[in-house]
Amino acid sequence: MGKVFVCDHPLIQHKLTFIRDKETRTKDFRQLVDEVAMLMAYEITRDLSLKEVEVQTPVATANCKVMSGRMLGLVPILRAGLGMTDGILKLHPTAKVGHVGLYRDPESLQPVEYYTKLPTDVQERELIVIDPMLATGGSANAAIQVLKNNDCSQMKLMCLIASPEGVKAVQEAHPDVDIYVAAIDSHLNEKGYIIPGLGDAGDRLFGTK
Ligand code: URA
Repeated sequence: MGKVFVCDHPLIQHKLTFIRDKETRTKDFRQLVDEVAMLMAYEITRDLSLKEVEVQTPVATANCKVMSGRMLGLVPILRAGLGMTDGILKLHPTAKVGHVGLYRDPESLQPVEYYTKLPTDVQERELIVIDPMLATGGSANAAIQVLKNNDCSQMKLMCLIASPEGVKAVQEAHPDVDIYVAAIDSHLNEKGYIIPGLGDAGDRLFGTK
């Protein structure tokens, strides 16, 4: 069973409050999501491996550490995942970025893949799948499956807000994937919105309705 980590750092929780507020306008919403993504990236990459190196300081030799192991890859789910990508890149500027585009079929209500572009070495990377809202779990599960179909095996899912239903769906479909969120909310409403949530993340990020 994949673990769920709630990133409860006070700065993340403080900023999330203003992200939720319907009075927060597009510019501030975008900036706050960017900042929270950066802070969450700090938490989510806490387990990156390090190796020992020696560095000559001006006065002596220091035993230090640098990152080793797998390089990072970010995979935002289009389109709302884009809003969290730059924030993570601020901390991990060498990460490569792939994209997965999904839409919901109006009849089956199932996610349909319409666009996938991944780094050529994606299989060797530790991946962070990004979607601000983990609602039914349909898109996250489909995006993770796209990556697994491309022989990727190491990935985490990063969301701002999750519903309990979405967490359960991902844990059942992909027990090998840990989930990182800033909050787990009460439930989904009949239209598939997370309650209390923040509304439509894509619309609020891009100023569309
Ligand atoms: N997608 C959103 O943008 N918001 C929700 O509440 C659920 C899915």
